[in-house]
Amino acid sequence: MPVDMELEAVLRPTQYPMVPYPPKVVTLANGKKMVIRQAEREDVPEILKSVHPCLFIERDYYDVVSARLYGELLAWYYYRAKSPYCLIGQVDGYLVGAVNGRLENEKVGMSYHTLAIDRGLRIGSHLFAAKMEYHLEYLGQEEVLVVAESPIGFRRWMIEYPLKPSKIPHELGGGDSWVLTREIYEKAKPRLVVGDRPVPADLWEVATRHILFADEDTIRERIAGLKGR
Ligand SMILES: CC(C)(COP(=O)(O)OP(=O)(O)OC[C@H]1O[C@@H](n2cnc3c(N)ncnc32)[C@H](O)[C@@H]1OP(=O)(O)O)[C@@H](O)C(=O)NCCC(=O)NCCS
Repeated sequence: MPVDMELEAVLRPTQYPMVPYPPKVVTLANGKKMVIRQAEREDVPEILKSVHPCLFIERDYYDVVSARLYGELLAWYYYRAKSPYCLIGQVDGYLVGAVNGRLENEKVGMSYHTLAIDRGLRIGSHLFAAKMEYHLEYLGQEEVLVVAESPIGFRRWMIEYPLKPSKIPHELGGGDSWVLTREIYEKAKPRLVVGDRPVPADLWEVATRHILFADEDTIRERIAGLKGR
C-alpha cells in the first residue's frame, strides 16, 4: 500500500539532530573484543533476530525486557519514536547485546533498555556505560532518566554508579526515575566507562559486514544460569 506522506508528516514525531556515537572496542574478561557501535534504522530487522528468542526466556526478566525492546525497535523502524537510538555490541560479528534510549529534550535523555545476550562478561554493563557516555559526552545532555525492571539491572545501574532517586515519572511507566547527573557520570567514568578508539579496521570490517545472530539454542544456553541472581 502506498504510504500517505501527508498523514505520515503528522504521525512521525520530531527528531532532534543527533551526532553519531563514535564506535569503540572493549576487551571482555574472556579476551574477546566487543565492538560497540550505533545501529542504523535499516539494521532493525537484523537486530530483532537476536532479540526474538529472548522473548521466551522466563529468567531474570529477559522476556519482559526483550518484548519491550522489540517494540521500541519496531517503533523506530516505522518512524513512531521521538529521537531514538540503539547501540549494539558485537563479537566476531555476532550481536551479543543492545541498549536503546531516546532524547526527551535537548538536555534530558530517556534510557530505555539494556539486553545482554551473552553473560558473565559484563556485556550489559559496558553497553549501559556506552549509552550514558553517548548522552553525556556526545549528545551534550545534562541528565539521563533511568528505571530498572530487574534486580540485576538495579544492582548494575542504581547501586554501581550510583544513580540518584527522584520523583520524576519514567516513560516506561514503572517506578519513578533514577537520575544519572553529570556529576555522577564524571565520578563513575573512570570505573565503568571503558573502551578504545578507533576500532581497528579488521574488527570494523567484520562488525559492519553483517549483524550475525546466534541460533535460538545457543542464545538460551548463554542466558541460562543462576536464576534470580
Ligand atoms: C541486566 C543485564 C543487562 C546485566 O548484564 P551484564 O552486566 O552483562 O551482567 P550478567 O547478566 O552477565 O551478569 C549478572 C550477574 O549474574 C552473574 N552471572 C554470570 N553468568 C550468569 C548466568 N549465566 N546466569 C545468571 N547470572 C549470571 C554475573 O556473575 C553477575 O554477577 P555480579 O553482578 O556479581 O558480577 C543482563 O543481566 C540482562 O540483559 N538481563 C535481562 C534484561 C534486563 O534485566 N535488563 C536490564 C533492565 S533494568
